[in-house]
Amino acid sequence: MHRTHTCGELRGKHDKENVTLSGWVHSRRDHGGIIFIDLRDRYGVTQVVFDPKHNKESHSLAERLGREFVLKVTGYVRPRMEGMINAKMDTGEIEVLVDKAEILNFSETPPLEITDKVNVNEDFRLKYRYIDLRRQSMQNNIISRHKIIKLIRDYFDKHGFLDIETPILARSTPEGARDYLVPSRVHPGSFFALPQSPQIFKQLLMVSGFDRYMQVARCFRDEDLRADRQPEFTQIDVEMSFVEQEDILKLIEDLMKKLWREILDEDVHTPFKRLTYAEAMSRFGSDKPDTRFALELIDVTEIVRHSDFTVFKSIIEKGGKVNCINAKKCSSFSRGDIEELETVVKTYGAKGLAWMKMADKLESNIVKFFSDSVQNELIKEAKIEKDDLLLFVADHKHFNSDTIAGQLRLHLGKKLKLIDESKWDFLWVIDFPLVEFDEDEQRHVAVHHPFTSPKDEDIALLESHPEKARAKAYDIVLNGTEIGGGSIRIHKQELQKRMFNVLGISEEQANKKFGFLLEAFRYGAPPHGGIALGIDRISAMMTRNDSIREVIAFPKNKAAASIMDDAPNEVDEKQLKELHIKLDIVKKEEKKQ
Ligand code: AMO
Ligand code: AMP
Repeated sequence: MHRTHTCGELRGKHDKENVTLSGWVHSRRDHGGIIFIDLRDRYGVTQVVFDPKHNKESHSLAERLGREFVLKVTGYVRPRMEGMINAKMDTGEIEVLVDKAEILNFSETPPLEITDKVNVNEDFRLKYRYIDLRRQSMQNNIISRHKIIKLIRDYFDKHGFLDIETPILARSTPEGARDYLVPSRVHPGSFFALPQSPQIFKQLLMVSGFDRYMQVARCFRDEDLRADRQPEFTQIDVEMSFVEQEDILKLIEDLMKKLWREILDEDVHTPFKRLTYAEAMSRFGSDKPDTRFALELIDVTEIVRHSDFTVFKSIIEKGGKVNCINAKKCSSFSRGDIEELETVVKTYGAKGLAWMKMADKLESNIVKFFSDSVQNELIKEAKIEKDDLLLFVADHKHFNSDTIAGQLRLHLGKKLKLIDESKWDFLWVIDFPLVEFDEDEQRHVAVHHPFTSPKDEDIALLESHPEKARAKAYDIVLNGTEIGGGSIRIHKQELQKRMFNVLGISEEQANKKFGFLLEAFRYGAPPHGGIALGIDRISAMMTRNDSIREVIAFPKNKAAASIMDDAPNEVDEKQLKELHIKLDIVKKEEKKQ
C-alpha cells in the first residue's frame, strides 16, 4: 500500500496511529542529527521526522533526499513538541516519526521553485508547466476551476438541462473571428473548421426538441491574444426553447448568486443592474462598463458648439461628439501628467487631449476660445468645482469619441485608485444594436451573429434604418469584463431571410454558408435563445487572477504557442502529402542561406 492517508489529512486525533504517506519532498531541514522533511501532495504538507536514535537506516536514507524526490514513509503520528506547533498548517499539530522510508523516485533539481513567489517570466513557467502546476497557488486555481464547473453542471442538471456534445470537426460558423482549419485527407482540398462556438449545433438541438441544452464547450478562435483571450477557451454553452430574454437573464443571475455563495461564501445582489448599450456607451464609453467607480462621461457637444475653438467646432460641424471627464480635485496634475494621459488616448486613436483646470476660474491654453457664457454652461453641466481638471475628447465618430473617453476613464480610475477591488459589480448590457456598418466590407455586419433576433418593435426598421434596430442580445459584465453573452434567436425563416438581406448576404451565399440551418428551420423551429459564459474569465476573476492563463492547466502563451510541447510545429513531408498540401513559405533554414 502506498498510503493510508494523504499529506493534508492527519490531525491531533490521529495521535499514536501507524500511518503510511507518499508524496514529494518539499523541503528538508537537518537539525543536528534529526532530519525534518515536509512531505507534500495535492492535499497538503505533513512534517515527517527521521531520528537516528529511532531508526538508523531510514535516517541515513533521509540524508540522501533531494527536493522533489518521491518518498514513501511509514511511521506513527505524534503531537509536535511545545513551541513547534504550526497554526498556519492544517497538519501543524502533529508530525510523523518515521520507521521505514522508501524512495519511490528521484528528481533532478527542478527548474522552478515550488513556492508561491516564483520570480521567473511566464514563458519559463509555461515551458515547465507540469512543475509550475505543483505550486500551491496553481493547485488552488485548478481545484477552484473544477469546483466552479462542477457546481455549474449540477445547477443546469437540476434545472433539466441535458449535457450534449457537439462536433469539434465542423464547418465554419459565422462568429466573426478567424477559423482554425483542419485539412481533410479523405476529401482533398476540403477543410474542417474547429468551432468558434457550438452556436449552430445548439440551435439545431432546439429544432430536435431537446429544449434545454448545456455543454462545457471548447471553442477555437484565431484572434489577437490578450490577458483575457486564448485561442482555445471554454464556454458554458446554453440554449433553451420557449423562453424569452427575461427567463435567460434570471437563470444566469441565480447561477451567479449560487456560485458566489457556495464557492466564495459571498452574497451578490440580484437582479443585476441593467444598462442599455446606448446608455453604457454614453455614460461609460464601453459596452462592458466598469461601474465600480463613477467618473462618467459628459456630452458637452451642444455647449462647446458655441465656442471659438476650431478643433471642436470643425469636428462638431461634421456631426462629431465632444466628451468631457471631470477629474475631481486633479488640477494639480502637471504638464507631464497630462501628456501621459494624452499618450494613453492617442493609443486608442485620439487626435489630442484638450484640458482645463478650475482655479478661481477656468484656466488652460484654450480657455480664451470659450466665452464666459460657454464657460458657465460647462461649469454647470460638468458640475465643476475648485481644483477640478476637465479633460476633453472630440471625434468625428460618436463611437470613437465615447470609446476613447471610456479608455481615458478606465486609465484615470486606476491611476487615481478609484476602483474598489473588493466589489463584485455584475451588470447586464442589453439592447445592443443589431448590425453595424463595416467600412472595410462596405456592408452591415451582425453585431452578435446573424441569427440574433431584432426587438419586436424594431423589426420595421430592418430595411429603412437597420443601424437603428436593436437586438434581443445581452452581455453579462463583471467588474468591467464581459463574462458572457447571448441572444434570443430568429426562429422564423422569413425574418432570417430579411436579416441576411440586411447583411448583404444573397440567398445563394446564405444557402452555401448555412443552408442546413435554414433548411432545419423549415421543419418547425421553436422560439429559442441562449447564452455562453466564458468560464476561463469567470474562474480567473473568482480566484482573483489577472490572466486567464492562471486557471488553464496548459494554456498557450502570448504568441499563441505552447512552448512546453512546441506546438504548433512543422510536420513531415509525408503528412503534408497525405493531406494534399504544398507549403508556400520559405523555411527558416532556407531563409538563412
Ligand atoms: P461570445 O462570442 O460572446 O458568444 O462568447 C461568449 C463568452 O466567451 C468568452 N470568450 C472568450 N474567453 C477566452 N478567450 C477568448 N478568445 C474568448 N472569446 C470569447 C467571453 C464571452 O462573453 N455563440 C455565442 C453565445 C450565444 O449567442 O449563445 C458566443 O460564442 O466571456
Ligand atoms: P491644436 O490646435 O492642434 O494645437 O490643439 C489644441 C489642443 O486641443 C491640444 O491640447 C490638443 O491636444 C487638443 N486636441 C486636438 N485634437 C483634439 C481632439 N480631437 N479631442 C480633444 N482634444 C484635442
